[in-house]
Amino acid sequence: MKKTLLSGIKPTGQIHLGNYFGAIKQWVDLVKSGEYESFVMIADYHALNFIQNKEEMRSLTQELVVDYLAVGLDPKEVTIFKQSDISAHTELTWIFDTLVTVPFLERAHAFKDAEAKNKEISVGTFNYPVLMASDILLYSPDVVPVGSDQKQHVEYTRDIADKFNFKFGETFKLPKEMILESVATVPGIDGQKMSKSYGNTIPLFASDEEIEKAVMSIVTDSSGDVPTNVYAIHKLLKTEEELAPIYEANKGKYKALKEALIADLKAFVGPLRARREEILANPTLVKETLEMGAKRAREVAEKKLEEAKVAIGVL
Ligand code: ADP
Ligand code: TRP
Repeated sequence: MKKTLLSGIKPTGQIHLGNYFGAIKQWVDLVKSGEYESFVMIADYHALNFIQNKEEMRSLTQELVVDYLAVGLDPKEVTIFKQSDISAHTELTWIFDTLVTVPFLERAHAFKDAEAKNKEISVGTFNYPVLMASDILLYSPDVVPVGSDQKQHVEYTRDIADKFNFKFGETFKLPKEMILESVATVPGIDGQKMSKSYGNTIPLFASDEEIEKAVMSIVTDSSGDVPTNVYAIHKLLKTEEELAPIYEANKGKYKALKEALIADLKAFVGPLRARREEILANPTLVKETLEMGAKRAREVAEKKLEEAKVAIGVL
């Protein structure tokens, strides 16, 4: 019996090294292991909290599918689908909404952050963890590989599943997050968590010029021999053993070390970018991938939703 894996990303902008090393690389490796039935989602309804423009939504969604294919996710081996194609996600969210309390959702980090910024918070933002619980529980995954910032969301998912199961009988499998310690939080060019919203990213498909510009602007205010922020990114590409002679030979030479990082990043990104170009040259691939993905995802999700509807007594 194969285990099941599910994860996803919101189509809210260019993916970066943090997304890749923190989450996507794990998906690719686990899919290739052949041990999992895998589901990888484009969380477009989650993105609607941020992207409220038709053209932008459409193009960011397409781009993310191309990115998934370019990193080596093969639609024959993994179900790649769009959240909005599977209406079971929003339907199950309503069912969960009747169980989940307001104080429970008020304890979520993302909600507290938004509140601290004094923003007017939409119901969709408040309810984000409930939709994410539905995304996950419909597919009964054993593992949800994500970066550490998503840990609380998976904990919420377990709590929601537990509450449902307690009230209505065993229906949902409790999922586990899978977080690789070494890349749980990939730092950006300023040393903070790399994130689209902090403007400190190195895009996964960056051009050579973008790589040079990003690396040259890595903040190096440390006074020691090793520029910490350069080393932290370099460590994603090479082992400590491989890096030791380079950093030994260039003690305190921040420019030379940045140049070494630029060379390694170009060698890493180059083939990925070339693969992305190939996929872009085949415009029907995205459409076919999503159609195929929706078909398989729907089969699995609708079956689980039906179980939940029987359990609550509406079917
Ligand atoms: P961003 O913060 O750039 O908006 P997302 O929230 O879209 O990124 O994250 C998509 C996936 O990538 C999630 O699984 C998230 O945990 C992971 N991820 C994002 N940034 C990082 C990072 N800096 N380090 C490790 N994982 C990350
Ligand atoms: N909240 C996740 C993020 O911001 C995206 C996401 C939505 C997700 N639904 C999911 C991740 C289900 C894993 C499983 O990155």
